[in-house]
Order: sequence, then C-alpha cells, then structure tokens
Amino acid sequence: MDRMSEHMRAMRQQVLGGPEVLLPVEVERPVPGPTEVLVEVHAAGVNPVDWTVRRHGLFLTPPYTVGWDVSGVVAAVGAGVTRFQAGDEVYGMPHFPRAAGGYAEYVTAPSRHLARKPAALSHVEAAALPLAGLTAWQALVDTAGVRTGDRVLVHAAAGGVGHLAVQIAKARGAYVVATASVPRHELLRGWGADVCVDYRTEDFTAVARDMDVVLDTVGGDYEERSLGVLRPDGLLVSIVAVFAAQRLAAKAQAAGRRAVTLLVEPDQAGLAGIAALADGGQLKPLVAAVFPLEEAGRAHELGEGGHTAGKIVLTVAR
Ligand SMILES: NC(=O)c1ccc[n+]([C@@H]2O[C@H](COP(=O)([O-])OP(=O)(O)OC[C@H]3O[C@@H](n4cnc5c(N)ncnc54)[C@H](OP(=O)(O)O)[C@@H]3O)[C@@H](O)[C@H]2O)c1
Repeated sequence: MDRMSEHMRAMRQQVLGGPEVLLPVEVERPVPGPTEVLVEVHAAGVNPVDWTVRRHGLFLTPPYTVGWDVSGVVAAVGAGVTRFQAGDEVYGMPHFPRAAGGYAEYVTAPSRHLARKPAALSHVEAAALPLAGLTAWQALVDTAGVRTGDRVLVHAAAGGVGHLAVQIAKARGAYVVATASVPRHELLRGWGADVCVDYRTEDFTAVARDMDVVLDTVGGDYEERSLGVLRPDGLLVSIVAVFAAQRLAAKAQAAGRRAVTLLVEPDQAGLAGIAALADGGQLKPLVAAVFPLEEAGRAHELGEGGHTAGKIVLTVAR
C-alpha cells in the first residue's frame, strides 16, 4: 500500500478569521510514526479553543486544521505501539496545545494521548468528552483532589466543561453548587447538582459559602467573588486566567486564599478515569448539536454564541 498517495478530507483554514475561513479540502492522509496511532475519525468534538485558534491563532500559525477532540477507530499503528491495534475504538485529545488536525477524516496521535472509547457511549458522545472532560478531571481530581463531602462550586455548570465537572464532582461524593441560567437548572439537578444559582438574577456569593473548591470557567469579577466564598484553605482553579496567572495570584493573595490556573493536557490516565465513570453510568455527556464535518463553520457560529448546554460535535461521514 502506498500510503503517501492516499488523501482525506479535512476542514482547513489558510487565514485567521470568522467561521467562513473553515473550508473543506483534500489533503494527504497522515502516516503514523513510531509510537503513533492512525485514527479513522468518526466524530470530532468542538471546543471554545477551536474558535479562539481559528480567529486569533493563539498557539498556531495558518494554514492549519483546528480541532483536538476525536473518537474513532484505529486504522494502523506505528512501530513500537503495544496498547492498540487496528480496529480498536479509541478517543482522546492528541497533541494539545500543538496542532492535532481533529476536523478531518484521519488524525495521528501518540498512542498514550488516547484511551479506549467508553463502551457505553457512541462515537459522537465520546468525542464530546476529551478536552472538556480532561479539563474538569485535571482541575477537580488531579489539582484539587476533591473528596467525599467537599463543597464544590462550578461556574457555567451547564457548559461543556461545567456539566462534566458537576458529574465528576458528584461521582467523588462532593456537595455541588452550580451557576447557570434557569432553563438549565433541571438538567443540572439531573446531573446531581445540590444547589443551582441563576447567575442572571442571583448573586452566587449570597448562596455559596465555605467552599472547598471553585472551578472558574468565567473569569472577570467571578475571580474575586469566588475567592470570597472559599474556606480559608479552599482552592480556586481557574481555566480562563491561564495567561494571567500573576494577576490571579495577586487577587488570591489579597483575599488570603489559594488560586491556580490550569491548561488541559493530553492524559491517558484521565481519559481512562472518565471512561470508567461513563461505563459505570456516573457520567454522560450532553450533546447539544451535531453537524457534518463540512458544516464546522455553522457549529462554530452556534458555539460562539456562548450559551450552549453541553457539547457540539461534528460527524465524519464515510
Ligand atoms: N484552561 C483550559 O484548559 C480550558 C479548557 C476548556 C475550556 N476552557 C475555557 O473555559 C471556558 C468554558 O468552556 P466551555 O467549553 O465550558 O464553554 P461553553 O460550553 O461554550 O460554555 C457555555 C455555557 O456557559 C454558560 N455561561 C455563560 N456565561 C455564564 C456566566 N456568567 N455564569 C454562569 N454560566 C455562564 C452558559 O450558560 P447559559 O446558557 O445558562 O447562559 C452556557 O451553558 C471557555 O472560556 C474556554 O475557552 C479552558
């Protein structure tokens, strides 16, 4: 088989810009190097970083294909790979924050950036999990060490990260306070949230007190206000102040509380932990909308509105 002559469809951008810069193209299919896996992508998850990179580049310079979250089937493995073989169903967030080219028919990934897809979930559901789920997992489990009885405040709790964070915190036995608009409260109670705060009409600082952990997915004045609801030894984990860590540290010092910023990383142990929760019936992603790969621009338009509950996913037809 002459792999170099094989092509695939991908959504590529030549320039920075709006959703219209995402264009379908035929490109060379990647070839897995040593320790890498070639994944036939069945579904690709959409995240805010995708449209941030599309518009601003951030870590990348065009031309490139955005997208990190994938769920699919192993098509081939490179030299030295022991964990997978052709035909295995896998999911993950390879290479982040370097380019992965997830909005495509195939991606290559270091084998340890992938885990087995949760058997209980479809490819569309599994593709909704990696980036948002790993962010929640690395914040609550790895960084904050959430344990039974901890009081956890999750902001934007119906969003991509938030709705998985609520479920992970509940699976660990935490008491969860969730901020979201009223139409999302029923969903949140279904995921186990103990208290729902309507961020549009209520001040969460009047409701949330003595929190052990706050997951800040919003930023701005949520930082000071969240620091103010922490117990003296509580921890604020911000996923939005990543490139303003010193500013957050100064606010935390002024409040006499601890705060850290977190940027999600590829993580097979986290993926396996998330898959175990999904297969155990303790975690299920909400898929808000599904678009064909070629309509990635429409998916971005919807997501950029900022009020999606759950996740948006692209499907790759064959
Ligand atoms: N550092 C990292 O590694 C990392 C990883 C993932 C995400 N992020 C960042 O984290 C943020 C959230 O990501 P995401 O994927 O969860 O986004 P998302 O799914 O697009 O978030 C949408 C949700 O935000 C809610 N929301 C908007 N403003 C709110 C507010 N003031 N208070 C409470 N809820 C509010 C909306 O709720 P309503 O519909 O009820 O208004 C909606 O459900 C983004 O800025 C993203 O870039 C960082």
